[in-house]
Amino acid sequence: MGTLTIRSLNDSVKQALRERAAARGVSMEEEARSVLANGVSGDASRSFQDETLYAAIRRSVEPHGGFDVDLPERGPARRPPQFAACLSGKRILLIIGGGIAAYKALDLIRRLRERGAAVRVVMTAAAQEFVTTLSAGALSADHVFTDLFDRNDEHDVGHIRLSREADLVVVAPATADLMAKLANGHASDLASTVLIATDKPVLMAPAMNPKMWSHPATRRNRATLQKDGIAFVGPAKGEMAESNEAGEGRMAEPLEIVAAIEALLDVGPKPLAGRKIIVTSGPTHEPIDPVRYIANRSSGKQGHAIAAALARLGADVRLVSGPVGIADPAEVTTLHVETANEMKDAVEQLLPADAAVFVAAVADWRSETSAGEKIKKVAGEGPPALQMIENPDILAGVGHHKKRPSLVVGFAAETQDLVRNAEAKLRKKGADFIVANDVSHEGGVMGGDRNRVRIVSKAGVDEWPEMSKDEVATRLAALIAERLKTITV
Ligand SMILES: Cc1cc2nc3c(=O)[nH]c(=O)nc-3n(C[C@H](O)[C@H](O)[C@H](O)COP(=O)(O)O)c2cc1C
Repeated sequence: MGTLTIRSLNDSVKQALRERAAARGVSMEEEARSVLANGVSGDASRSFQDETLYAAIRRSVEPHGGFDVDLPERGPARRPPQFAACLSGKRILLIIGGGIAAYKALDLIRRLRERGAAVRVVMTAAAQEFVTTLSAGALSADHVFTDLFDRNDEHDVGHIRLSREADLVVVAPATADLMAKLANGHASDLASTVLIATDKPVLMAPAMNPKMWSHPATRRNRATLQKDGIAFVGPAKGEMAESNEAGEGRMAEPLEIVAAIEALLDVGPKPLAGRKIIVTSGPTHEPIDPVRYIANRSSGKQGHAIAAALARLGADVRLVSGPVGIADPAEVTTLHVETANEMKDAVEQLLPADAAVFVAAVADWRSETSAGEKIKKVAGEGPPALQMIENPDILAGVGHHKKRPSLVVGFAAETQDLVRNAEAKLRKKGADFIVANDVSHEGGVMGGDRNRVRIVSKAGVDEWPEMSKDEVATRLAALIAERLKTITV
């Protein structure tokens, strides 16, 4: 009987075996023997990838004297017990684009399979310059699709089948090129054709040089794709793998992509099930007359994202929204109000609740009177004098209310002395914690997509790095779930 020595295998076979063995939690030698056993036994269920690897191992071993096989049958993949199979039964079509971050897509396959998902992989021609189909096939335990005009796959219009058989299509890394193709409706290779043919949700994890990411063309394409309903995760800020440059463009880490997938497929844990949570969002409009009002620059993006994140964790969310130009979040009950007084009334009617998160930028003052008719500009009379009065303080009102929720979270939008002002607000308003964000003009927080916040509580100040408003929302929702867990009602 010949011996099978891993050292004698060529490098690409070794790499494929290493990844495959890691995915199944077995040694490389066990995995090689398993591939050979299935190959020799003529197992009809073996995949194209098994056959490729089987042939490659044979070719590597035969010059060293060949081998006999007296090997155990391939056992079921050993799943490490710490992973909940929350993606069990879900089918993910992963499109790997041609960027340096393609190596992370291999880890993503592993992470998805650990959680019970079936992963099919499409690789662009450029992606194959960075990672091999052998590795992707070994990790996904399936044939890797690369060619739109493949004679074997296309006899039954395989690209349509591929795009429809999945529950979710994930593009990681999403190159500038793939984003441009989908934003403009191109279908010039298998990846872009699948993307345009699918009727399933699509999640993109962009990765590119910061200059490419900030180019107006990429920004335009991203905005178009978002309008078309494509979901995004990342990119993050950080060092680029290929150069000394740093900036926004790093692909989200595989586990962040997994979290985004779980959120899109709504399979994540529901620690807030049975909890009622009030969220306020957006600006308020304080009328001067029927056509004029006092407002602020709040877009509602952060508050709406928090409402959506809490709903994803299973909460019964009641969103009280001022006038905003964005859509109501899915799975959330939204009440639309205009003024601070209307917001206060709506919030009070929603009590009792388990938690309340006051994100809205409520106007501090309003005009004492609102004219019934449009105030006319009269030559020689000058502008009207507005007498301003204070609006109700909704956060303080609920923070000291007899029906106070167990957890009260306020937001402090400040342009100076951020932490000191937030600490003062915490004490004065009876909040459990204050999310402080710097809304000075340079930060671009008001109306922008990113935020950098500090969580100020009696325990101290926790500074979070800059991230997207969606990511802030996800982290804050997790924090609220954690805090509510320790509060018994
Ligand atoms: C070394 C190298 C690294 C690259 N990294 C990226 C990248 O991270 N992101 C990106 O969008 N394009 C990157 N490119 C350019 C893409 O590979 C190129 O635009 C290609 O056409 C993308 O094809 P695809 O979108 O079909 O995968 C890189 C090119 C090279 C040569």
